Amino acid sequence: MAGSAIARLLFVSCVLALACLRAFAAQEPFAVRISCGAREDVRTKPTNVLWYRDFGYTGGRYTNASLTSSIVPPLKTLRYFPLSDGPENCYIINRIPNGHYAVRMFFALVADSNLSNEPVFDISVEGTQVYSMKPRWSNNDDQSFTEVLVFVTDKSLSLCFHSTGHGDPSVLSIEILQVDANAYNYGLSWSKVVVLRTAKRLTCGTGKPAFDEDYNGNHWGGDRFWLGISTFSQGSDQSISTENRIAEASIAPNFYPEKLYHSAIVSTDQQPDLIFEMEVDPSKNYSLWFHFAEIDPRVTNEEQRVFDILVNGDVIFEKIDIIRMAGEGHTALVLNRTVAVSGRILTIILHPTEGHAIINGIEVFEIIPAELRTLPEEVSTLQILKASLGLPLRLGWNGDPCVPQQHPWSGVDCQYDSKSVKWVIDGLGLDNQGLKGFLPSDISNLKHLQSINLSGNSIQGNIPSSVGTISGLQTLDLSYNEFNGSIPESLGQLKSLQILNLNGNLLSGRVPANLGGRPLHRASFNFTGNAGLCGIPGLRSCGPHLSLGDEVGIALGSLTAFLMLLVCLACWWKRRQNILRAQKIAASREASYAKARTNNARDVQMTRHQQHRVHDQTRTATEASPALLT
Ligand SMILES: *[C@@H]1O[C@H](CO)[C@@H](O)[C@H](O)[C@H]1NC(C)=O
Ligand SMILES: *[C@@H]1O[C@H](CO)[C@@H](O)[C@H](O)[C@H]1NC(C)=O
Ligand SMILES: *[C@@H]1O[C@H](CO)[C@@H](O)[C@H](O)[C@H]1NC(C)=O
Ligand SMILES: *[C@@H]1O[C@H](CO)[C@@H](O)[C@H](O)[C@H]1NC(C)=O
Ligand SMILES: *[C@@H]1O[C@H](CO)[C@@H](O)[C@H](O)[C@H]1NC(C)=O
Ligand SMILES: *[C@@H]1O[C@H](CO)[C@@H](O)[C@H](O)[C@H]1NC(C)=O
Ligand SMILES: *[C@@H]1O[C@H](CO)[C@@H](O)[C@H](O)[C@H]1NC(C)=O
Repeated sequence: MAGSAIARLLFVSCVLALACLRAFAAQEPFAVRISCGAREDVRTKPTNVLWYRDFGYTGGRYTNASLTSSIVPPLKTLRYFPLSDGPENCYIINRIPNGHYAVRMFFALVADSNLSNEPVFDISVEGTQVYSMKPRWSNNDDQSFTEVLVFVTDKSLSLCFHSTGHGDPSVLSIEILQVDANAYNYGLSWSKVVVLRTAKRLTCGTGKPAFDEDYNGNHWGGDRFWLGISTFSQGSDQSISTENRIAEASIAPNFYPEKLYHSAIVSTDQQPDLIFEMEVDPSKNYSLWFHFAEIDPRVTNEEQRVFDILVNGDVIFEKIDIIRMAGEGHTALVLNRTVAVSGRILTIILHPTEGHAIINGIEVFEIIPAELRTLPEEVSTLQILKASLGLPLRLGWNGDPCVPQQHPWSGVDCQYDSKSVKWVIDGLGLDNQGLKGFLPSDISNLKHLQSINLSGNSIQGNIPSSVGTISGLQTLDLSYNEFNGSIPESLGQLKSLQILNLNGNLLSGRVPANLGGRPLHRASFNFTGNAGLCGIPGLRSCGPHLSLGDEVGIALGSLTAFLMLLVCLACWWKRRQNILRAQKIAASREASYAKARTNNARDVQMTRHQQHRVHDQTRTATEASPALLT
């Protein structure tokens, strides 16, 4: 009895415990880790972190990876994207709760290729170009990954790798880690439409690179990579460290690891300034975060250590006194500032006015304004086109068509639409691309098209009549394809159409009157090379019904000509009779009235003339008739 009661109690408490665990789990930040190219899920030591097998990608191949020294934990496979698979390839990870995320990608080399094959490529997140790989990245610990902070607003995250023609982009791992909604909020101009890229994250006073300790991430941000440095300038500064507890470290919104404040670099009399220099991309804004904790046993009171911070010569913080500002020693102090950098070097100087300068950590983020996206209806229409035209793999067409602006899809022209505040498609240039399939009527959803060139492909089927609703269309070149059927009447509605090339197809039927017959200035329409097409000058005449009409016309014309000839002949005959009669009369008069000759000279002249004519029997009636009639 007692045993079963205990069992029941145990069971109930287990259920409760499970429920509690679930509820707790629901509070946890969302995290997905992908081991690219992996055929099976992977767990890595020491914390048994789960990496899902590869999913969500648009192309590419998998292979073994050759890792750079900094990559912890080691993953064995990667996915790479040969150029033949298209210039842009993406991971599209769906079912992500909307929110703020740290997205990190690690890169590695294909194991069986030379180092000279180190690929250099561009990376975009949610359509915004966030990073261009630097040459020789595989020799630099903190260049073998990139990390950005980005907001997800449509429950889906896209990461794209854009080829720059230097090797095949390859990716080792992708981590999507939820962070605090306010993480790295740098003040007034911070918003959901900026992306922060981690340009540098230093832990000072320790030579070892470190991840945050909380590698499993049961609160957000348990996964930052800190590059360890023990000196800024060859030994003239000092590393110090402590094991003491640090207050105020792991607090919202950034939850810094306490360990960050356990070591620091301090300047010396020899070189009072601490100087840190890094290369940056020019003409960008950077968000700088400085970490301090007074861990130096020599400094216990306010005003023992006071220093300024200068960035590229400008003072950004004046009279920092850590103990005064943090309240006491062994307490974290985090300061942030946004700076615009015009050149390629970012120089941070900590300049003491009292005692020596100290620093525990530095973070530098590039502030990247999020790029506008393409109107979603237009993106889905292009995807329909891609499928129905059998677009070859090498063209890519993954991710967003218009952004990043450095890498639009090939064959697609984009235009900013102020009405929707989005990019729209105003041109399609897919001439000579080996397209097959058919042109879907959905093409008319690309309402902003001004130009379509699909010349020189093998597209079959009808020209969709919906094309006639793309009201701004100026150029439509469908020449040299296998379009059949008739030309839709709707094309006649296109008021702006200047170039219409339908030559070299299998079109048949009558060219719509409002195309063929329209008086067009500077417009060029070409319908030649379609055996079945008819109805405008230069083409054959149209089908059976209309050809009967033509025959009637011709018959009427011939009849008129024949009747006119008859009339002429009749006239000629009549005139001839008159003349003959006149000749007879004249002959008889010549005999009787010789005197009358001179008086009737004109008559006689005419008579002679006529005699000559009449005697010349070889002349034709038509040639003779004008003379007769005059
Ligand atoms: C990767 O390495 C394993 C051995 O570690 C080998 O069996 C496999 O064939 C390799 N795969 C590729 C794609 O090279
Ligand atoms: C390096 O690449 C070249 C050309 O792809 C190849 O012929 C050579 O064998 C490679 N060397 C090594 C060590 O893999
Ligand atoms: C960063 O600094 C700004 C002022 O420049 C301040 O408003 C903001 O709260 C700081 N952010 C954090 C997370 O401390
Ligand atoms: C930098 O910030 C300033 C002020 O917010 C802004 O006007 C400028 O456009 C930004 N520059 C870049 C490259 O984002
Ligand atoms: C369409 O492309 C073809 C082939 O590249 C080119 O010859 C033709 O001029 C283009 N048509 C227009 C209207 O530009
Ligand atoms: C046009 O071509 C398609 C596919 O080749 C064919 O199915 C269809 O019957 C053709 N239509 C006409 C009117 O010839
Ligand atoms: C129309 O196309 C044919 C070839 O199909 C070409 O020979 C001709 O020059 C073109 N006419 C014009 C006006 O472009």
